[in-house]
Amino acid sequence: MKFFVDTADIDAIRELVAFGMIDGVTTNPSLIAKSGRDIREVTKEICDLVPGPVSAETVALDAEGMITEGRELAKIAPNIAVKVPLTWEGLKACKVLTDEGRMVNVTLCFSANQALLAAKAGATFISPFIGRLDDLNLDGMELIADIRQVYDNYDFDTQILAASIRSANHMSEAAKIGADVATAPPAVIKAMVNHPLTDKGVEQFLKDWEGTGQKIV
Ligand code: E4P
Repeated sequence: MKFFVDTADIDAIRELVAFGMIDGVTTNPSLIAKSGRDIREVTKEICDLVPGPVSAETVALDAEGMITEGRELAKIAPNIAVKVPLTWEGLKACKVLTDEGRMVNVTLCFSANQALLAAKAGATFISPFIGRLDDLNLDGMELIADIRQVYDNYDFDTQILAASIRSANHMSEAAKIGADVATAPPAVIKAMVNHPLTDKGVEQFLKDWEGTGQKIV
């Protein structure tokens, strides 16, 4: 499973890139607003840091507007994936932009039918939002499984990009189901390393080692 980081925070991206942990980045209008920076400037910096796909989202509501914005965003760098919402207009824009050879991430997906339409429109990535479904007491992970089944039934190339991930548990569940990519905030990716038995084990080994009086270097 590829890891994308869901942030526009340059320092956080740089830290994860240094680990070789990150295959791409997703942003959205809320994350750009949170960064307090100009979309072109911050997105360009991200694209220079990460060789993989960097999603930059359109904000127009009509297909023509999304296509114009998508072409503009794609000028930032060759690794831009234009993000459009899963609306009828978004699907139209997806078809046009993918026919032009651009990567398109269709976002705000909340049903298997929506994912099916996005695949038919040629989407590079489909972004089902797990956490926002869980917030409504629905099962976000079930949606990932449903889309996996539908895409596998028909050999669609569209990659399932599990999004709106809120916990390390979401990461492992998405991986077990076979999501192609998961995008998560930096804190969630870092939390994947945590296990109390690892901490306890390190502590015990150190204690026993100190008793030997030896040094390795
Ligand atoms: C993905 O592309 C979205 O930016 C993101 O995962 C949304 O997550 P949220 O529901 O936690 O805002």
